[in-house]
Amino acid sequence: MNVLIVYAHPNPRSFNQAILHTLDAALRDRGHLTQTHDLYRMRFRAVLDSDDLNRNWRGEPAEDVRREQESVLWAQGLAFIYPIWWFGPPAILKGWIDRVFTRKFAFDFGAEGMKGLLTHERALILNTLGGDEASYHRQDWHELLARPMTEGILRACGVHQVTYQAFYEVTGVTQTARRAMLEEVRVLAAAF
Ligand SMILES: Cc1cc2nc3c(=O)[nH]c(=O)nc-3n(C[C@H](O)[C@H](O)[C@H](O)COP(=O)(O)O)c2cc1C
Repeated sequence: MNVLIVYAHPNPRSFNQAILHTLDAALRDRGHLTQTHDLYRMRFRAVLDSDDLNRNWRGEPAEDVRREQESVLWAQGLAFIYPIWWFGPPAILKGWIDRVFTRKFAFDFGAEGMKGLLTHERALILNTLGGDEASYHRQDWHELLARPMTEGILRACGVHQVTYQAFYEVTGVTQTARRAMLEEVRVLAAAF
């Protein structure tokens, strides 16, 4: 499978970077082709502005958006790796979705409302958090993290199977616990 990995973390020494390397290597070991789009390194322009809106109406996306859409179409699988910042993705990734998942590319409206146009078989979302899992589950907060991305964006745009994995308390746990998290990433890659 061709897999596009969309990565959003500004620090090249972060745990997210370790997740990226682990996932990429594990996918390649299994024979998948991967492309990584590191949004901070690309300095991706993340703010959807009035020019983008006008272009969307005309069906003429900006050059950087068109290139991203080509990469999305190249892939049959999508992976997103990012830390949770204020219960959601970093703004640069939210902006990537705003600008790249345009109407007539990722979705359209039909007689029954919105319908997805993406035909990807799978998507995998890997999140890191500072918070602890017990608190997130006690308050049902974990759903707030997963569902906007899994259902509101990817499933709504047509991706068939979406897998979500959160890694909690990564800032406070031991190296052994972090190694176990990377092992979980390998297991998820094997199921991709
Ligand atoms: C701007 C900002 C907002 C954050 N918001 C949350 C949050 O809503 N929930 C949470 O559990 N952790 C939050 N964190 C903590 C990060 O999720 C955590 O530092 C990150 O996942 C650790 O991964 P890293 O070592 O790869 O950076 C936030 C961190 C920053 C910088």
